Amino acid sequence: MVSIRTLDAAEAWAAIPALADLLVEAVDAGASVSFMAPMEFGDAMAFWTEIAGSVAAGRRILVVAEQHNRLVGTVYLDLIPNPNQCHRAEIAMLIVALEVRRHGVGKRLMVAAEAAAAAAGRSLLTLGTRAGDKGERLYRSMGWVEFGRVPRYARSSSGKFEDTVFFYKELTGAKDLAAE
Ligand SMILES: CC(C)(COP(=O)(O)OP(=O)(O)OC[C@H]1O[C@@H](n2cnc3c(N)ncnc32)[C@H](O)[C@@H]1OP(=O)(O)O)[C@@H](O)C(=O)NCCC(=O)NCCS
Repeated sequence: MVSIRTLDAAEAWAAIPALADLLVEAVDAGASVSFMAPMEFGDAMAFWTEIAGSVAAGRRILVVAEQHNRLVGTVYLDLIPNPNQCHRAEIAMLIVALEVRRHGVGKRLMVAAEAAAAAAGRSLLTLGTRAGDKGERLYRSMGWVEFGRVPRYARSSSGKFEDTVFFYKELTGAKDLAAE
């Protein structure tokens, strides 16, 4: 059984090596998540160390999926600090381990991220994803609204320029929490 939870700062620090393994596996399998293949484990460690630091600082919320005490998925929220946008958060790094994909873990991570955003008083979420990726269909199925497509926005893990589609979602449950 896969369980989903948010990590506190200490748990985020402890999870860095497992998060690095997950990221390396995803990038080397062709995921478009900021890095190029082949991905160095040290670069992945450095990336998640920065993320764990921002969790400790209250700037990000880190959600993970675990199965038999093993980390099998993640997603995080960037809590926008700008005083005029503190109702907003960005979703990033939705990754599910290859062996548990297509069992609803990605969707559950997104549901948890949206709930965590609402609990943090964030009512507007945005994200970008490679055009045509699995994630694109997942976000649409969860009520995310496309607001733009930028050609050649990022390179694939193997170096080819690809389009990115941007989505937003308004969390009606969180609207009351955000000052209007
Ligand atoms: C995108 C990603 C996170 C999706 O994770 P996932 O756990 O496979 O997602 P889900 O299982 O919730 O949904 C994916 C598909 O599985 C299907 N599915 C869900 N439960 C299922 C089940 N029990 N049996 C069969 N299929 C199922 C969903 O309907 C969906 O189908 P679709 O692709 O035909 O639309 C995963 O593919 C991934 O890690 N990709 C690499 C990283 C990446 O690209 N991230 C997005 C960056 S923005």
